[in-house]
Amino acid sequence: MKRILVTSALPYANGPIHIGHLAGCYLPADIYVRYQKLKGRDIIHICGTDEHGVLITMKALQEKTTPEQIVNKYYLNIKESLDNFGIKYDNFSRTSSPLHHKTAQNFFLKLYRKGYLTPKDSEQLYCNNCKRFLPERFVEGICPYCNYKGARGDQCEHCGRWLEPTMLKEPKCQICSDTPIKRVTKHWFLRLDLLQLEFESWLKSKQAWKENVISFVKSWLKDGLEPRPVTRDIDWGIPVPLPQAKGKVIYVWFEALIGYISSTIEWDKERWKDYWLSQDTELIHFIGKDNIVFHAIVWPAMLMAHGDFVLPSQIPANEFLNIEGKKISTSRNWAIWLPDYLKNFDPDPLRYILTVNAPERGDVDFVWNDFLAKNNSELSDILGNFVNRTLSFVTQHFGRKIPRPGQYTLEDMELLKKIELARDNVGALIEKFEFKKGMKEIMNLVKDGNKYFDYNKPWKKTERTPTIIYVCTTLIANLGTILNPFLPFTARSIRETLGIKKSKWDEVGRLKIPKGKEIGKLKILFKKIEKERIEVEKRKLGKPLDKESIIVSLEDFKKLDIRVAEIKEALKIDGTDKLLKLRILIGNEEKQIIAGIAPHYSPQELIGKKVVVLTNLEPRIIKGECSDSMLLAATEGDKVVLLVPDKNISSGSRVS
Ligand code: 2FM
Ligand code: ZN
Repeated sequence: MKRILVTSALPYANGPIHIGHLAGCYLPADIYVRYQKLKGRDIIHICGTDEHGVLITMKALQEKTTPEQIVNKYYLNIKESLDNFGIKYDNFSRTSSPLHHKTAQNFFLKLYRKGYLTPKDSEQLYCNNCKRFLPERFVEGICPYCNYKGARGDQCEHCGRWLEPTMLKEPKCQICSDTPIKRVTKHWFLRLDLLQLEFESWLKSKQAWKENVISFVKSWLKDGLEPRPVTRDIDWGIPVPLPQAKGKVIYVWFEALIGYISSTIEWDKERWKDYWLSQDTELIHFIGKDNIVFHAIVWPAMLMAHGDFVLPSQIPANEFLNIEGKKISTSRNWAIWLPDYLKNFDPDPLRYILTVNAPERGDVDFVWNDFLAKNNSELSDILGNFVNRTLSFVTQHFGRKIPRPGQYTLEDMELLKKIELARDNVGALIEKFEFKKGMKEIMNLVKDGNKYFDYNKPWKKTERTPTIIYVCTTLIANLGTILNPFLPFTARSIRETLGIKKSKWDEVGRLKIPKGKEIGKLKILFKKIEKERIEVEKRKLGKPLDKESIIVSLEDFKKLDIRVAEIKEALKIDGTDKLLKLRILIGNEEKQIIAGIAPHYSPQELIGKKVVVLTNLEPRIIKGECSDSMLLAATEGDKVVLLVPDKNISSGSRVS
């Protein structure tokens, strides 16, 4: 039996992840891997953060910090979110690691030596105003293929084509909105043209790919594969390992894909070879549809050119998840961020809705009311209720001990048989990446459990009662395993209450619990969600992230050096109506503040006043004057009132 190597797309470390990411690849990959592990297959799940490229530099510019700080922050943030949703990895790496740099550079060199990377002078977009080459994400324009306005310089969001900035019609610099010019620079091109024939013959064996992937690849192939530049003129990235390419870095997509290999090497310095260097490996890449071109065309071509590694056997790409009828937009904050979701809800209800409403065949819509309905009337009323009514019965009527069953009737055997059937059906569906149907199959089994309970009426306390409760408890015990790929937290909670371990997948249906075993304390599996809570969530959509909702740690607050200061001098600044130049004393230290308080205070009334200032603010130049502290004031509409100490106190005193 083949080994399985599963990857899920490396998220960019430029922000937290949202439910679209989860639905796109992380959740389906996790369901698949958890199932295969229960089947006892030799399988590993590899991922990590994508830490180079212009998206990271743009975020650093926005947050006025360095790319290093951005990737360090979001690596931890993303890893924590995935962890909190139970997404399990054998290794979760980072493309900034030295091991990845080396692996990517070696890969690049091998292709260069084999003639698959050739240099060519080419025109790139240059912004005269910003005095810089404009890499892909710094320009937008009209897609040359589908005329979509607002296509990015790397990819058209609308038709999914891989673009180059120079291909865009009416390009605009994203920093200053100027129209860039073309300038000649040298780049190294991946010779996809040399691989067309080999690629086409390889693709013939991939007819089992999902329809959306295969049709995308075929339509791309019709136009023919062309050389594409895989180096860039920016400074945040992996240096091109050629002396003649000084100052250039490897294109982020080219090296991020190699991240799958380096993350596996990081996992195990020897065993990685068993997966990557063997044709006996099934390599499965879980991705979202915007990544199809890179995984289904560029990456297999890179691997063919290299020659040592196994090629992908499956690329189960999901379509997009919209929210409340609109496309997810991180810039407009039309998104549900995982850390924010987890402040108010448990992970499994979201795993559930994103599975039964998965964008497996087409785009789907996430609607908060639907989330509430599915949580309350499916998870809570069907699954939670079945577990709760059965185990409450064990607690109340059998002193917490699993009762001893009598002779099974046909009905009992029928329900027990259904567990085995569900095991086989769900397994077959997961193997075909049909997770939505798999989850529904389990819910149908639970519905059958409820029907059985209602029909047999254990509350009538007949001689059948212990048997009915035993059969229901057996079903619950099996749910502790069969639910594990989909709802791992719920499955664990069930196992903990029953005091049992996960079984192998193939044992589902045959798993029996010892009669007389004492069960643990009951836990509520799914809390009902109130309508008001959902209204709050809906209102958050599209609102700018509220500063007031950001919680600042005491440690962060302590970084602010706030002091009492005395104003020694106050002067109007020529040419402005608003600004005053203040000379202040903080203890013995003198500082200058440029403050916009001229409409509210005259210079005379300020001299000698004790005020409150933030002293360690980054200095700023205002109207040619340096301002190295900030006056603290309260504002109300147009009104501005300076904060002053309530009683006399020395200048320099600390405010905390
Ligand atoms: O679209 C993205 O979020 C990319 N960072 C995915 C990269 S997948 C692979 F190349 F690593
Ligand atoms: Zn397009």
